[in-house]
Amino acid sequence: MIPAGVIEDLKFRNNIEDVIGSYVALKRAGSNLKACCPFHSEKTPSFTVYTGEGGHFYCFGCGAGGDVVSFIMRMENLDYVPALRFLADRCGVSLPEDDDRDSGGVTRARVLQMNLAAAKFFRNQLSGPAGEGGRAYLAARGLSGSVVKRFGLGFAPDSFRALRDHLQSAGFTDEEMTEGYLCQRSRRDEKNIYDCFRGRVMFPIIDVAGNVIAFGGRVLGDGQPKYLNSADTPAFKKSKNLFALNYAKNHASDGLILCEGYMDVIALHAAGFQNAVATLGTAITPEQSRIMKKYTDKVIISYDSDEAGQRAADKALRLLDAVGVDARILSIPGAKDPDEYIRRYGAESFSKVLSGSKAPFDYKIEKTLQRFDIAKPEEKVRAARSLCEAISALPSRVERDIYAERTAQTLDLDVKSIKMEVEGIIRKKTSAYKKERRTQLIRQTSGISDRINPDKVREPASETLENIVLGMMLAFPEYIDKVCKEQILSEKDFFTDLNKRLFRHILACHLAGGFNFAMLSEAFSQDEVSKAASYAAARRKLTDNGVTVFMDAAEKLRQEAVRILEKEAGTGDDLAALIARRRNEQ
Ligand code: UTP
Ligand code: MN
Repeated sequence: MIPAGVIEDLKFRNNIEDVIGSYVALKRAGSNLKACCPFHSEKTPSFTVYTGEGGHFYCFGCGAGGDVVSFIMRMENLDYVPALRFLADRCGVSLPEDDDRDSGGVTRARVLQMNLAAAKFFRNQLSGPAGEGGRAYLAARGLSGSVVKRFGLGFAPDSFRALRDHLQSAGFTDEEMTEGYLCQRSRRDEKNIYDCFRGRVMFPIIDVAGNVIAFGGRVLGDGQPKYLNSADTPAFKKSKNLFALNYAKNHASDGLILCEGYMDVIALHAAGFQNAVATLGTAITPEQSRIMKKYTDKVIISYDSDEAGQRAADKALRLLDAVGVDARILSIPGAKDPDEYIRRYGAESFSKVLSGSKAPFDYKIEKTLQRFDIAKPEEKVRAARSLCEAISALPSRVERDIYAERTAQTLDLDVKSIKMEVEGIIRKKTSAYKKERRTQLIRQTSGISDRINPDKVREPASETLENIVLGMMLAFPEYIDKVCKEQILSEKDFFTDLNKRLFRHILACHLAGGFNFAMLSEAFSQDEVSKAASYAAARRKLTDNGVTVFMDAAEKLRQEAVRILEKEAGTGDDLAALIARRRNEQ
């Protein structure tokens, strides 16, 4: 858990107005600021930033809300701690958690500083006299000066001490250099510390916040290993990062292209495919597929065309499929990898290959045939069902007809019966969908349903009071202290599950050393945090948030709780006992 003091400090250094203002154009509106919401499309601004105490935002259009931490979580697609780290990096401090790692006291912040210094050093080397070999190599591979610059490519001279001397004079310690995997200690002589990367073209690996977190280095010729990559350091975990995601994340709406190599990614970006990323010298991990899922629902796997590449592609397909990404495997005819393909046939041709990337239906057929023994009639029926299910999910009629044909051929069945089966599944799905949609609409228009706090429907009066109390506690934290000190309310007074949990969490944090709105993001979903922000926003719109209003709402909430309890207990003899017991519990 990150202490309240640290969060407070981070929020102080990352003023909500500056942070949000760097993403959207804010206009002053009274004591608040307004903008068009970055989380849904709108023409008139309903996105409001409250610069007062704590600093909150709330969109009256789409209901997104929170503080500067939840804003960054949404905007940068980051989890709670990474969002705090993003803000820490933004203002140049480090999180205590980062400092605690057992890396001989070497912190993430220091490694990042050192990596930046190293990246600049490599870049200067590439353009200097020692970089001639590197320049010639990159030119021979067809990279223009602007691409080299965009990716921050550099050159590590063929020397054991060039980087080490440079970093030493810049004030970095031996521990920092070795923990950061830029230098290593000689096995024979402990005191002899030398550069890891020598005589290599250097590819900095940059995270979505813009930090240089690691490096990959390629030999100029045929030496071994072809690529040398940073090991995990206090600033880098191979399995949790993707090369070029810093650029690709802004071009991911139509999907990402996943490659095997640095050079493939760079060639693709240079050819205008800025949505290409690569894993970092290892097979794809579940974490990496989850990261991709955050940015897109569609990934085209563009691996090497050899057998190893295709096997790796199968694995990637499985992992991506497991997180709900629509993944497709691209086969690149006549070249060993995307880089070579583009050099040989050009960008336009690659674009055609991309748009011709096949639906995973072929894969589905293959898997189905592996799973079922279609020589047995009952298994053949199950195979047909499973394929018909898949066909029914295809969006276009043409596609469905094509694959119905294929399925009929593969299973040696009549295409008419396949089509009828598919139509039947679709009809069933549509009527279920329509029914669901109808009930949804009825609920929405009658204003009783609440997806985020569904208990509202059951006790709307209690929910309203809960919202007032929580809203005041969140907007004016002095009420949190008051509730704790004077024991004005307990979590049993809350009926709805979400509000009960919010109340419990706020109090627990307060008692454990301080509550900050940001801490909600640790324990609640973005929608739930937004809901909490809406309570606070509702209170801020009102002029009277005095203690009488608060105490009055709290009193009514307690009465509601008793009423609900009585209702639940019915009129049984033990009612009095129940109420008495409950009073004691409080
Ligand atoms: P490839 O050998 O396919 O790389 O390895 P490439 O990008 O096509 O290399 P070029 O075109 O010959 O320069 C794919 C990826 O596997 C990792 C690297 O990340 C590389 O980009 N790799 C490969 C290593 O980490 N170490 C190696 O020795 C080789
Ligand atoms: Mn290659």
